[in-house]
Amino acid sequence: MIDVLLTEAQIQTRVKALAAEIRRDFPDGLHLIAVLKGAFVFLSDLVRQMDGDVSLDFMAVSSYAKGTTTSGEVRLLKDLDTTLDGRHVVIVEDIVDTGLTLTYLQDILRARGPKTLRTACLLSKPSRRQVDVKVEYIGFEIEDRFVVGYGLDYAEQYRNLPYIGVVTAP
Ligand code: IMP
Ligand code: MG
Repeated sequence: MIDVLLTEAQIQTRVKALAAEIRRDFPDGLHLIAVLKGAFVFLSDLVRQMDGDVSLDFMAVSSYAKGTTTSGEVRLLKDLDTTLDGRHVVIVEDIVDTGLTLTYLQDILRARGPKTLRTACLLSKPSRRQVDVKVEYIGFEIEDRFVVGYGLDYAEQYRNLPYIGVVTAP
């Protein structure tokens, strides 16, 4: 059983607003970097709400998870295809929890010389934060519950749900 936390309609409305806000901040060239796998659905909806010049790239990281929590160690599984030198870059991530994954990503990407580097996260769990990471665009702040759907998984399942929910029984 899954309790719905955010409906498909709520998500779509918010993603559309986020896309407009990001586009307004970067009316010209914008380079979005999605963090696989979780952000793939968010990215695909976000990018389709933007007109004009936008390019994409993907990274994959693994957080050395211990069950449903992060250990803090991050491993780079797939690196970018192109350089960031002089570009306006926005990292697109599914959720910021402890903040450790994003802190790591921001540090390594900042070192590659983008003109600007910002971060967009669909979800944030502020009560779980261990490091003070800066996220300029946040879709929804949620309580400390493990959520699935809309790209987010539990043991690689539920990524296909068009809404976000909490698993109450497997
Ligand atoms: P952080 O490093 O603790 O901020 O963890 C971020 C990563 O943990 C996310 O990119 C997700 O892959 C995963 N994660 C954190 N909370 C959840 C959740 O509620 N559901 C699914 N994955 C989560
Ligand atoms: Mg993730």
